Amino acid sequence: MTDRNTIAAAYDAGVDEEYNRLVSTPLCEAEFMLVSELLSEYISEGSTVIDIGAGPGRYAEFLLSKNCNVGTIDLSALSLASFTKRINGNYGKSLLFSKTSCATELEWVQSESADAVLLMGPLYHLTSEEERTKAIANSYRILKKGGFVFSIFMSPYPKLNPLLEGADSILTNRELINTVQENCTTKVMFQGFEIEQYRCWPLYAREIMEKQDFITERIRNIEGVGSFYNKQNLSEFDNNNSKQALFRMLRNTCENPNLLGITHQYLYVGKKGDNIHL
Ligand SMILES: C[S@@+](CC[C@H](N)C(=O)[O-])C[C@H]1O[C@@H](n2cnc3c(N)ncnc32)[C@H](O)[C@@H]1O
Repeated sequence: MTDRNTIAAAYDAGVDEEYNRLVSTPLCEAEFMLVSELLSEYISEGSTVIDIGAGPGRYAEFLLSKNCNVGTIDLSALSLASFTKRINGNYGKSLLFSKTSCATELEWVQSESADAVLLMGPLYHLTSEEERTKAIANSYRILKKGGFVFSIFMSPYPKLNPLLEGADSILTNRELINTVQENCTTKVMFQGFEIEQYRCWPLYAREIMEKQDFITERIRNIEGVGSFYNKQNLSEFDNNNSKQALFRMLRNTCENPNLLGITHQYLYVGKKGDNIHL
């Protein structure tokens, strides 16, 4: 069962770090680019969007600036407070609400009220399948027919490299072989708190979303082939030309089916079809 108090406390303590994350390295800048360009492709101006796990609201603000009506939800009250303080009433009634709540407990959000739902945070912090299923079912219920969900998943891929170091033989390295096949939960220290991250391969992501009747539209690696690079390699993308070349390479490879899951994170886009959810 997920320790929501720890997640809320960690993100409350890390509001600035999380806000600055998407401009902190070329790969993080690429993340914002690869996600926001898909948002623009699927979400038209004037749409209603519910951002669940909005954090300090970079994507919510991006959508508000495109004349969308946006509701933000997060476990971290301070992340939402920093978002509303930053936008300072600028978007008037287009900010529908900003409310502290868990992705698994959204009975208060009206059914079939949104053209799009962002679920870009909760699914890799909810550690039980039951909780992930609830969050996905809530997103499905909130969406209008024909609406789109955008979910971020974390991949087990980054666990593989350290396991290869010092391994005598991949034939006897059971942990490596298991990691290649299985989903897992890893731990990371953030702001002095130990947080769990659920990691799954795209096949599972697709399966759990489709079980809730989503129709899979796209799966896109975020860091993708950029996750082969270490800090030293990445520091070489230090001018606009080399950064643009990196962005082009990531964009050209991010939906190659042979590479899906070879990444830290990936974005799933699903559609609520016209079928009835029994
Ligand atoms: C890494 S941040 C991502 C913020 C933003 N969506 C983005 O993609 O940049 C993850 C956010 O998800 C929130 N979160 C995690 N689990 C959640 C849950 N069960 N319900 C609501 N928010 C959750 C965290 O508090 C945090 O603000």
